[in-house]
Amino acid sequence: MQVSIVTTAIKSLKSPVLIAGLFSDAVTQPVNLETLVDAAILADFKAKPCQTLTVYPKTGSIERIVLVGLGEQASCTLDTVRCAAGTGVRVVTELGLSALAIPLWKVAGIDPQQMAQTLVEGLILGSYTFNELKSEPKTQALAEISLVATTASKAAATHGAAEGQIIAESVCLARNLSNLPANYLTPTMLADIAERVAAEVGLRAEVLGEAQMAELGMGAILGVAQGSDEEAKFVILEHNAGRSDLPAYVVVGKGINFDSGGIQIKGAEGMGAMKGDMSGAADTLAILRNAALLSLPLHVVGLIPCTENLPDGRAYKPGDVLKSMSGITIEVISTDAEGRLILADALTYAKRYEPRAVVDLATLTGACVIALGTSMAALLSNNPELTGALKAAAAETGEKVWELPLEPEYEELIDSDIADIMNVGGRPAGTITGGLFLGRFAKEFPWAHLDIAGKELSPKTSGYTVKGGTGYGVRLVTAWLRAMAANK
Ligand code: BES
Ligand code: MN
Ligand code: ZN
Repeated sequence: MQVSIVTTAIKSLKSPVLIAGLFSDAVTQPVNLETLVDAAILADFKAKPCQTLTVYPKTGSIERIVLVGLGEQASCTLDTVRCAAGTGVRVVTELGLSALAIPLWKVAGIDPQQMAQTLVEGLILGSYTFNELKSEPKTQALAEISLVATTASKAAATHGAAEGQIIAESVCLARNLSNLPANYLTPTMLADIAERVAAEVGLRAEVLGEAQMAELGMGAILGVAQGSDEEAKFVILEHNAGRSDLPAYVVVGKGINFDSGGIQIKGAEGMGAMKGDMSGAADTLAILRNAALLSLPLHVVGLIPCTENLPDGRAYKPGDVLKSMSGITIEVISTDAEGRLILADALTYAKRYEPRAVVDLATLTGACVIALGTSMAALLSNNPELTGALKAAAAETGEKVWELPLEPEYEELIDSDIADIMNVGGRPAGTITGGLFLGRFAKEFPWAHLDIAGKELSPKTSGYTVKGGTGYGVRLVTAWLRAMAANK
């Protein structure tokens, strides 16, 4: 994607198409179109959020203008803008166009740098398509964005656009990985991609195989991996590796390349969606890419345990007891509660960095899908400050979170008769007991768990979300890390 900043006045700008956001109620609009578009058209256009209308100006050198509604001025947020840009760009690509111009919309409370970042994010994310496995691309790709700024806003716009492009392209990387089926993305292939991305952006990368995991005593992930012919991998990515002067932040992502449920196999219907069970891993790679390309002044570590969960003669069985790297023994009540097992060892591994905070991203529980549906992640944490910081990042990015309690009263649900803990605490409070299980391995540092189940694959296209892999959580955790870097 080529993003350039121009300072040409709109009336003399040459472009096949311009995207303009409009309020439904304001006298002063985010883009001044009066000379280009008939007053009657502007009066008729209701500008409801994400409503669009394509008009053909009679004067000037802009061939088309896509009007996109922003709704009422008072309720227009960064996410409204991002959604509008994402909706508008699909009108452009559906017209078969690959280049567009977009002025910095003027919205109260949003500065030019934020506006540039947000517009570029919306445009790149909204025009995303997954073409890797198609013989012919199914849709027009967007190749060129001209962001129209003023001489006064040019520097800020340049900065914001560059950041927006980095962040959005990282989200697209995560989306690609979530969309790839399990036969195109084994643990080995995922580890190879992580190493390739790491080399491209300058991250330190290390990949542990099963023998090295055995040496570390990672009995929980190895238990899950037993049923798969594919070797499990444990990927470690580091930005600013070895900089002990910088505070360490660790991101952990669940990398189940395919979750069949194991011996306690899932029902047939919809099982294919479990190709997305490595979305936390994909997010983590994307977040580390952001940390590198945004040059965050932090030591950021990404831990990505990867394996498949399959039934087999060698597979782990209900009733088995696994000894985790921490020494905690785990009674396997369900072979389908595998995510928390692989995360347990990753959280134990995180200790060696003496982290300021650890955040994990995981498609952990069906209960989270039932509780929050497709548009909010569950947030569970042992630290109120970290909770607050993640909520603030959610408000900025539109990747919403809803806090659930890590209430000690529920702890007894995972007490085991024969081992230290069980990997399931029954159906009630399923997302909470999943969080409490992980919390047993995260006692030594501030930690937050984001259960992104149901958020990783979207059932529909809307705003900047495209049907399929979403990359949900990448922008959220990146914004949180940026905030940590800013007030370090
Ligand atoms: N990967 C699933 C959770 C999931 C469900 C993700 C739907 C995305 C969409 C997870 O490994 C799982 O199977 N969880 C079980 C846990 C249960 C056995 C305690 C579940 O939620 O049913
Ligand atoms: Mn499962
Ligand atoms: Zn799973």
